[in-house]
Amino acid sequence: MTASSVWGTAAAVGLASGLVGYYIGLGSTLGYTRGGSSSAKDDEDDSEYETESEEGDADELKAVKAQGDEPCKLVLVVRSDLNMTKGKIAAQCGHATLACYKTLMRSNPKLVQHWERTGQAKIAVKCESEEELEILQASAKSLGVCARSIQDAGRTQVDPGTTTVLGIGPAPVRVVNQVTGHLRLL
Ligand SMILES: *[C@@H]1O[C@H](CO)[C@@H](O)[C@H](O)[C@H]1NC(C)=O
Repeated sequence: MTASSVWGTAAAVGLASGLVGYYIGLGSTLGYTRGGSSSAKDDEDDSEYETESEEGDADELKAVKAQGDEPCKLVLVVRSDLNMTKGKIAAQCGHATLACYKTLMRSNPKLVQHWERTGQAKIAVKCESEEELEILQASAKSLGVCARSIQDAGRTQVDPGTTTVLGIGPAPVRVVNQVTGHLRLL
């Protein structure tokens, strides 16, 4: 793959994410009603932010390498104890995917390109608490695997600042499984 086609692919992925985000946003605006009507305010309430402290040390993320054509994956760990709607979970997973993508593109672009070339697998699993997410994040970091958590700024479904989803990877399946292998599919 040439450098220009890599960037072409990256641009296409970015555009596609934007469109998916737009439709998810549209869907939640149309679908989420309170007192029989939806408003722009409901849409605003669905906004998210991420904390910088979650980024970790970029140097640590350089060490993980994929061999040959070995499979890589991004695992999206969703908190099941928050009772989020499907639309909310979809939006949060979109945020986590983009956060991991951006972080790893900066610190280990070769690994991101390997993941893209081998099908950019994504798996959604669940966990039961914020504490469990923190343990998973620490475990990922100890192996040099990218881990980004998403905090919700919204007030419609969860309290502001609640951690909703943790993205782990992309990284070789054999490494990610050491962190998330015990978790059940969402
Ligand atoms: C989620 O639903 C369960 C079962 O109905 C309930 O016990 C729990 O309190 C709910 N959690 C939240 C954060 O609303």
